[in-house]
Amino acid sequence: MSDQHTLLTIAVLGGTGKEGSGLAMRWALKGYRVIIGSREASKAESRAAEMNTQLGGEFIKGMSNPDAAAQADLVVLSVPYSAHKATLETVKEQVSGKVLVDLTVPLQPPKVRTVHLPEGKSAALEGQALLGSTVKVVAAFQNVSAEHLGDPHHVVDCDVLVCGDDAEAKQAVIQVVEATGMRGVDAGPLANAVAVESLTPVLLYINKAYNVKGAGIRITGI
Ligand SMILES: NC(=O)c1ccc[n+]([C@@H]2O[C@H](COP(=O)([O-])OP(=O)(O)OC[C@H]3O[C@@H](n4cnc5c(N)ncnc54)[C@H](OP(=O)(O)O)[C@@H]3O)[C@@H](O)[C@H]2O)c1
Repeated sequence: MSDQHTLLTIAVLGGTGKEGSGLAMRWALKGYRVIIGSREASKAESRAAEMNTQLGGEFIKGMSNPDAAAQADLVVLSVPYSAHKATLETVKEQVSGKVLVDLTVPLQPPKVRTVHLPEGKSAALEGQALLGSTVKVVAAFQNVSAEHLGDPHHVVDCDVLVCGDDAEAKQAVIQVVEATGMRGVDAGPLANAVAVESLTPVLLYINKAYNVKGAGIRITGI
């Protein structure tokens, strides 16, 4: 990892939750400055304190989603699909000109094991349409189970497909993916996020069918 990259500040919006908190801890341990965001600043502060206790140091800060996004170089969105649009609307101004990593899966409870395409075909495409062209949306991490992320020292045996329309932004995201210990794989333009997001209900189905908790994907042949 280059020094320039180590200095990045990463904000994880919804980082109080299962998926975002696991990623936040991994980045913090790699030297990134990490902020977790929440709808309530006090909730983010207390979750950050818990994570810092787990990590054994003052690694992570907590604040409101807009404040976290404003202070970050790279913003990660980790909220349920039902909160996707509303959360993006609260940070639209703060993410302008930045890379936004969207890991939202458009699940439709209770049928979370069946593929559901939202109106805009994919959460990431909907996010890009809402935020406009000043924001470089990159889709990643949708197929990584939070089951693997809670212990930041656990090695996650899966690949991360990364989709985006801006080559530089995609490479920057592949670099932060690799900082989590997983392999980042360039999976094409943002339009391909439709396929990547759709794999998650398939993995949830596999979890149930095989009585496991964290099925993932691995690309062979590269
Ligand atoms: N869990 C997994 O294994 C997994 C795997 C791959 C992808 N994903 C995707 O990652 C995203 C986050 O998953 P997660 O399991 O971390 O979700 P989560 O724990 O249920 O929620 C994450 C955070 O989103 C915020 N949030 C929840 N409901 C909200 C609402 N109605 N309005 C606004 N904010 C709300 C909450 O933060 P505050 O209350 O602090 O605002 C919450 O801590 C989802 O899109 C999910 O599909 C999850």
